[in-house]
Amino acid sequence: MTIVSPSILSADFSRLGAEVSRVDKAGADWVHLDVMDGMFVPNITFGPPVIKAVRGCSDRFFDAHLMIEDPARYVEAFADAGCDAITVHVEAKGDIDEAIEQIEARDIMVGVSINPETPVEDIVPYLDRADLVLIMTVHPGFGGQSFISECVPKIRHISDWAREHNPGLRISVDGGINDKTARTCVDAGANVLVAGSFLFKKADMAPTIKEWQALGPDAE
Ligand code: DX5
Ligand code: ZN
Repeated sequence: MTIVSPSILSADFSRLGAEVSRVDKAGADWVHLDVMDGMFVPNITFGPPVIKAVRGCSDRFFDAHLMIEDPARYVEAFADAGCDAITVHVEAKGDIDEAIEQIEARDIMVGVSINPETPVEDIVPYLDRADLVLIMTVHPGFGGQSFISECVPKIRHISDWAREHNPGLRISVDGGINDKTARTCVDAGANVLVAGSFLFKKADMAPTIKEWQALGPDAE
């Protein structure tokens, strides 16, 4: 069973509440929220007030991906807005351990993320304390980019590590996920698929979500 987390970065922002309900009704497990600050990445999206506003549109798990500098400053606000997982980047400036401590203190899922150019060794020290690892398969900042296949060995490495040290770790991939790359990632050990443009360009994303949920080692 694979978790599917559609990224509302590709949603129609003029009707965001309805788009979040659409994801919910299509049977997605999680809703992926891409927060960008214009510093860590060259793009700006939305923050806690917008997440709080759409929180009422779905009961699904809110999976926040913070592409921001100094995430420790904002953990409290994102938790208050109703996020169920908060993921911070190991490359972000600021105290990442402090950010993780704050997420732990709110008793929500702790996520850590790694960019394509960052060596996998840089994230391993955080994985003992993580519930979720988000492996970027594009350069963060924009939807609709092509999957970087050089990231696949990183999924395998983390999956092997997790089997031995943290078997409950959720292994998520984010960027350029489509029918083909979804399979590649699940075969390599991913169990959460984040996808924006591929799902949102469909009139009905439900059949794809169902298919992807059935991928994985425990699928029939
Ligand atoms: C990119 C974001 C992704 C993005 C993925 O910085 O983290 O979540 O929405 O979009 P697609 O699936 O279009 O690559
Ligand atoms: Zn993301």
